[in-house]
Amino acid sequence: MLAVALFCAFWAVLGFVVFFVAARGGPAGARATIQTQTRGGRKALATIFVLVYVGFGAGIPLVFLAGNSANASSQVGGIKLTSAEKIGRELFGQHCGVCHTLAAANAVGKVGPNLDTIQPSQDLVLHTIANGCFQSPPPTDTAATCLGQGTMPPLILQGKQAQEVASFVAKVAGKE
Ligand code: HEC
Repeated sequence: MLAVALFCAFWAVLGFVVFFVAARGGPAGARATIQTQTRGGRKALATIFVLVYVGFGAGIPLVFLAGNSANASSQVGGIKLTSAEKIGRELFGQHCGVCHTLAAANAVGKVGPNLDTIQPSQDLVLHTIANGCFQSPPPTDTAATCLGQGTMPPLILQGKQAQEVASFVAKVAGKE
C-alpha cells in the first residue's frame, strides 16, 4: 500500500512541476519565477528538490524491494501460503524433498513419485505419512498399499507437523 501511495505521489509531483513550468510560460518563465526569490527562498527550493530526488529516487525502489522480499517468503508461484503452510514448506524440504519432486519446495527427489504429477489431496498426504507405503504389504494391510513404486517409511512426521506438510503439498502440487 505504501508503495502504491509513493508511486502515485511521484506522478502527482511530476504533474505539478509540469503544470508549474507551463503556467509560467515555459522553462524560461519558470526559471525567472524561481530566480526572483530571495536567497533563503532559493535555499528552501534547493532543499525541496534534494528531498524529492532522494525521497523518490531511493525511497520508492527501497519500499518496493522490501515489499517484494516480504512477499517472496509467503508465496510461491503466486500462491499465498498461510503461516502453517510456510512451516509445511520448510518441513517438506527437511523430510520429504530427498525422495519427492515438488517444484514449489524446490525439491527434486527421484525415489518416490513426482508430487506435482500425482497432485495428492491433503487426505492422501496425511494417510501416506501415517501409514507409509510398502511395495508388497501384507494382504491384510490395505492402508499401506500405494502405487507400487517403492517404499516410503511411515510416520516421518506426526500430528501438527504432518498437517502442515499435508496442507502445503495439497495447495501447491502441480501449481508451479
Ligand atoms: C525414503 C524416501 C521417501 C521419503 C523421505 C518420503 N517419501 Fe513419499 N513416497 C516414497 C515412495 C517410494 C513412494 C511410492 C510408494 C509406492 O508407490 O508404493 C511415496 C509415495 C508418496 C505419496 C503418494 C501415495 C499414493 O498412494 O499415491 C505421497 C502423497 C507422499 N509419498 C508424500 C510424502 C511426504 C509428504 C513426505 C514427507 C513427510 C514423504 N512422502 C517422504 C518415498 C519417500
